[in-house]
Amino acid sequence: MDVKEIERLIKISKEHPLMPETYIPWHEQPKPEEIFLPEILTSLQGLDIYNTLTDTQKLELGRHELVQVIASYAWGECLFCLFMTRHLLTLPADNVEHRFLLRELIEEFRHQEMFTQAIMQISGKPIKQSGMHKFIGHFSNKYLPADYLFMGSVSVELVTDVYGNYTRKNPQVYQVLRKMFDLHNIEEARHILFTKSLLKTYSAKAGYIKRTLYSYVILLNIYFVRTMYVKREIYERIGMENPDKVYELASKNFKQKFADKCLHDIIEFVDSWKGLNNATRWAWRWVLGAKV
Ligand SMILES: [Fe+2]
Ligand SMILES: [Fe+2]
Repeated sequence: MDVKEIERLIKISKEHPLMPETYIPWHEQPKPEEIFLPEILTSLQGLDIYNTLTDTQKLELGRHELVQVIASYAWGECLFCLFMTRHLLTLPADNVEHRFLLRELIEEFRHQEMFTQAIMQISGKPIKQSGMHKFIGHFSNKYLPADYLFMGSVSVELVTDVYGNYTRKNPQVYQVLRKMFDLHNIEEARHILFTKSLLKTYSAKAGYIKRTLYSYVILLNIYFVRTMYVKREIYERIGMENPDKVYELASKNFKQKFADKCLHDIIEFVDSWKGLNNATRWAWRWVLGAKV
């Protein structure tokens, strides 16, 4: 781990904290022409059925799906905070990793509060995680070793960052949400730099089997995140007929979109330590639709 670099990241975090309370113009209400999620990120855009929706249905689809995305971030970050808190107890207080993780925890808690406030501001009703998501989330958080959990966290941060970039750069999106993703992008960039630096030590020592396992942990984390966004109930809420069928089409459509738009950075990262090999490549193609 590059200690000098981590010291620099700690310094920025302390000297330039971004407070959601003041950084985001919470007093701004959504304007009639503003949307909540870029159309390209919604689960139905790209399907014929999308063209049959009214403007209100399209707007509502984006609102419900955006709520699902940020509620999932908040849940995932809360789980990761649990792990980081336990991990801190294993590190001496003057250790640079310990000190950075304290900054990361502070920032992640602020993010969770920010996501919650945004959900309330747009009258969102997040759909709870499925039993499978809850079980895997809690189980892996409790029993996986630290290096695997950091691999998981960097993969989630890298794919969600792409998602945030689409949203914050789209001038049609409600400005509270754009600023929220701006803030998240700036702080997550530091978390990604730290975790990559930390993981360099682990991946340099890892042989074929360990690299294969790391690759699977990342792949499953991405699959885990992707399946939290598309929800059958949302199609019911916006008054679509046959929500089961719509859900089936949307899941396939979203899998392809996610593969095309969100996987570039994470594939580059995994490839940098040779995590794409004969034992993993097929799974990346099959489970994630990745072109590797
Ligand atoms: Fe965060
Ligand atoms: Fe983070």
